[in-house]
Amino acid sequence: MLKLVQVSDCHVSAETGATYRGVDPRATLAAVVDAVIDWGPDLVLVTGDLSEDGSESSYAWLADELARIPAPRVATPGNHDEPEPMLRHFPASAVDTPLAFEDDWQLIAVGSAKPGEIPGRFTPDQLAALDSLLASDGRPALVALHHQPWPVGSPWIDRYPLLEPEGFHELLARHSRVKLVLWGHVHQDVVLRQGGLTGLGCPSTVSNSLPGQERFTPDPAGPACRWLELERSGEFRTGLLRPAD
Ligand SMILES: [Fe+2]
Repeated sequence: MLKLVQVSDCHVSAETGATYRGVDPRATLAAVVDAVIDWGPDLVLVTGDLSEDGSESSYAWLADELARIPAPRVATPGNHDEPEPMLRHFPASAVDTPLAFEDDWQLIAVGSAKPGEIPGRFTPDQLAALDSLLASDGRPALVALHHQPWPVGSPWIDRYPLLEPEGFHELLARHSRVKLVLWGHVHQDVVLRQGGLTGLGCPSTVSNSLPGQERFTPDPAGPACRWLELERSGEFRTGLLRPAD
């Protein structure tokens, strides 16, 4: 069994003490990291908006903080991220080329964020690379990106989805060993069944919204990240990890 943690939408700024939606993202991230260390993952997947301002120092701080977790990290950028400083501090980041991590499952991160754009999209080259990675292996597979590839039912964020998702949907339909698709960006826990696979939206480590809202509406449950236990058979279990009180 592979133990995976998904951490998303940390929105850390250069300035210490800067807040995101009224919350200190460094304090909440540190508390989430403590909970992750207690849970003991084999791998940490970071699905975008690591930084709020794309600053070098935000990535440096975040990389140091996540390094407290004794597990490798794979990341992919969000619409707030700057690929160059991100890659300096998170060298295992899927920006243009998908990145695969292979264990009991094949885990593939794909960069959906494009410079200067809030919604996401995949280029034909990215879809072709994903297609050949999925054709190269027989294990159960998981694909992770920043933007939601299906609407999540919250108009404030469904304005900025993965655009033109048909090519991605078609690829998933052809590769039935993809059991899970994971994304961030939506700042809430989402579980969607899509044919034979499950889509999971991850809460933010700083501030989340209640589901089904026209506008971002703070969820009093606070920050969280996602845990997943992936069985070699393709079965999985998942839930949320929250900081201890
Ligand atoms: Fe985002």
